[in-house]
Amino acid sequence: MRVPSARRPKFGAAIFAVLATAAALPSALAADAAQVERGRYLATASDCIACHTVPGGAFMAGGVAIATPIGAIMSTNITPSRAHGIGDYTLAQFSAALRQGIRADGQHLYPAMPYPAYALLSDEDVAALYAYFTTQVAPVETSPPPTSLPFPFGIRLSMAAWNLLFLQGHPHVPNPAQSAEWNRGAFLVNGPAHCVTCHTPRNLLMAEDGSRALAGSDLGDWFAPNITSDANSGVGGWTDEELVAYLRDGNAPGKGQAAGPMAEAIGNSLHLLSAEDLHAIAVYLKTVPPVRDAGDSQPVFSRGSPSDELPSIRGVALPADPDSMTGAQLYDAWCSTCHQAQGQGSFDGTLPSLVHNAALGRANTNNLVMLMLQGLHRKDVLMPGFAAEMNDTQVATLGQYLMAHFGNPAGTVTVAQVKALRAGPATSPLVLVVQVALVVGAAAALAILAVLLARWRRMRQRPQQT
Ligand code: HEC
Ligand code: HEC
Ligand code: HEC
Repeated sequence: MRVPSARRPKFGAAIFAVLATAAALPSALAADAAQVERGRYLATASDCIACHTVPGGAFMAGGVAIATPIGAIMSTNITPSRAHGIGDYTLAQFSAALRQGIRADGQHLYPAMPYPAYALLSDEDVAALYAYFTTQVAPVETSPPPTSLPFPFGIRLSMAAWNLLFLQGHPHVPNPAQSAEWNRGAFLVNGPAHCVTCHTPRNLLMAEDGSRALAGSDLGDWFAPNITSDANSGVGGWTDEELVAYLRDGNAPGKGQAAGPMAEAIGNSLHLLSAEDLHAIAVYLKTVPPVRDAGDSQPVFSRGSPSDELPSIRGVALPADPDSMTGAQLYDAWCSTCHQAQGQGSFDGTLPSLVHNAALGRANTNNLVMLMLQGLHRKDVLMPGFAAEMNDTQVATLGQYLMAHFGNPAGTVTVAQVKALRAGPATSPLVLVVQVALVVGAAAALAILAVLLARWRRMRQRPQQT
């Protein structure tokens, strides 16, 4: 008898609570929906998917091996799974992971997770990302294999020292002397869109060299070129519209087309940004302090002139030894159907000119080799790769031919280079250098600590003596 009567008021209260919630719902939901949308947009702008989703795999479930000079670092599951992902992360823990590189268990993340850039996100940005990830992403109940790195990098605590030296973590501080648009661009480039993570060169300890921001960096296979405002080496000679077109569609005729990791960044992320945000990025890039690379005596996109050696090879039998094929013969066999006999591209502009193309204008030829091996894949745009069709010698011969005729004659392509790039990024010999540097550094730090400790003891003893 007591049970039902005790239940009834509870039931009534429950109904009342539901009704009360329903009344308050529209505005609360609207606020949440706006926050979730902000989080979704920031997740897109930050390209979380590039590193946390295996192509064709479960959304945000991790498992992408990120090649770094110290070995591959495996991205983790960031779906709201409680056992495998961030389901148990509080907002404060999520914020610490994103902006300080500290996991929920207090361990340090490696900066393959671009927390130095995400440190520019505001508290509201982080809360929006948290709302998006915890409510909109489906939990996935799998864990990718763990990361294992050579000594001493396997010790995550070594990152604490790195952070102390290199992490300047604070949200973006607007520069009042600049426009709101410029500040938005600065925030995106250095923060969520993390252009700096790829385009800024790194020092021996793998930290970005702020004095050469966006001046170009080797990614192990591809090369993220100089995009400072320099007129010859960077994007100083691109119009804002050309930059926006490149970032949105990956194609700025007469300047360049995007392949490799840049094509991925465009497809996952930049392509989906608002026109205003892309313009803000362009406006900011045009003000980044110019850095000129030695030898760039003219804009990298202005090199080369149309030329044609094909008549000289017509009717000449191909050599029996495939390694003896000339550059002109290789160009005729694999490239000229699309890029035309003189490298001038197709008349309707859908197939780009190789002359006046930044891809061939730089002395660094890694991207040209990667492109010949892997081709180019963007949404509706495809150039086949020729890794299976051409051996290392042929790729090098063709590369030399292209640079000499259509590009920067100072650029060379060697067989060893093609071989290394075909094999993929290896653990850098730098690892040894850094290991030595760290051990020496640790010894020096211990010595300094000992001196400080001795001084501190003496200082503490003094008042007791007086
Ligand atoms: C350039 C690659 C990259 C991008 C982009 C990236 N991450 Fe990560 N993230 C990683 C890697 C690698 C790890 C694991 C690092 C480690 O184990 O030290 C990681 C770890 C994390 C962790 C820690 C999870 C745990 O407990 O292990 C969180 C949270 C996280 N990322 C969230 C995000 C969010 C949110 C975004 C987008 C705003 C993002 N990441 C973008 C590479 C990336
Ligand atoms: C994951 C690494 C990565 C990220 C992130 C990235 N880039 Fe790139 N970017 C590259 C690579 C690699 C190339 C060369 C692509 C090629 O030649 O096909 C490139 C090329 C470019 C070019 C063409 C330069 C030229 O002269 O050919 C521009 C402009 C550019 N990036 C701007 C940006 C901006 C702006 C951002 C941030 C919004 C950004 N990139 C983020 C890797 C990256
Ligand atoms: C089936 C047609 C086709 C063939 C064959 C072809 N390409 Fe391409 N190429 C393309 C397309 C399509 C693009 C990209 C156009 C765009 O981005 O809008 C491209 C782009 C390029 C670019 C600029 C990309 C960048 O990263 O800046 C270069 C350089 C290039 N091709 C060189 C070559 C060479 C060298 C060969 C022969 C080994 C070759 N292509 C064969 C279709 C082709």
